[in-house]
Amino acid sequence: MSSRPATVAPPTRAAKPAPRRRGPPTTPQTHPVEVRAARRTDLKAIAAIDHAISGEERHAYWLQVFRRYGSGEHRDSRFLVAVAEGTVIGLIVGEVRDWEFGSPPCGWIFGIEVDPAVRQRGVGELLLNAIAAQFRRAGARTIRTVLQRENTLILSFFRGQGMMAGPLLSLEMDIDN
Ligand SMILES: CC(C)(COP(=O)(O)OP(=O)(O)OC[C@H]1O[C@@H](n2cnc3c(N)ncnc32)[C@H](O)[C@@H]1OP(=O)(O)O)[C@@H](O)C(=O)NCCC(=O)NCCS
Repeated sequence: MSSRPATVAPPTRAAKPAPRRRGPPTTPQTHPVEVRAARRTDLKAIAAIDHAISGEERHAYWLQVFRRYGSGEHRDSRFLVAVAEGTVIGLIVGEVRDWEFGSPPCGWIFGIEVDPAVRQRGVGELLLNAIAAQFRRAGARTIRTVLQRENTLILSFFRGQGMMAGPLLSLEMDIDN
């Protein structure tokens, strides 16, 4: 993973997709991006980003995710947001697990989303680097995630960050009977 400063203009829903970033932006409209722990007051903005991506209204879901990963009650859980000029522009959720199949502690990423209005400016990478640093401090030396096969965007993103096919295989079956 490279480390480059992410700076963006605050998103407006009408904004055109950001031009591909080639080094630090220099326009006066750009603002530094910070990554911090999600707060309950961020949930409206988080649900709005998710709505822009998934098309679904999932306020109750994000409240549940916040309680599980962001409340601080679970020592190894993380729910981080990227913020530019007070506006939440991205999120990442994950946790360190050390109970699977006798494996050493591993950082699992469950979700990452960046506001479509500020993509390809390094925000996703900043979020991934931030959670990776926290996982490392918690003892993890590997990051893992599970993707939808057809989501080529997220696959390109993770692949671009250096992630590759791992040793585990995901299996499932229908129990709805
Ligand atoms: C994937 C996502 C998080 C990337 O966020 P981002 O802020 O645009 O990512 P970055 O600017 O940090 O990009 C980092 C790298 O990812 C890759 N990447 C990002 N967008 C890409 C695209 N549209 N096409 C191909 N590669 C892309 C590139 O390798 C890029 O590095 P580069 O800019 O040096 O080429 C964002 O596109 C998103 O939220 N997508 C929807 C996520 C989703 O479906 N979530 C649900 C499942 S978790």
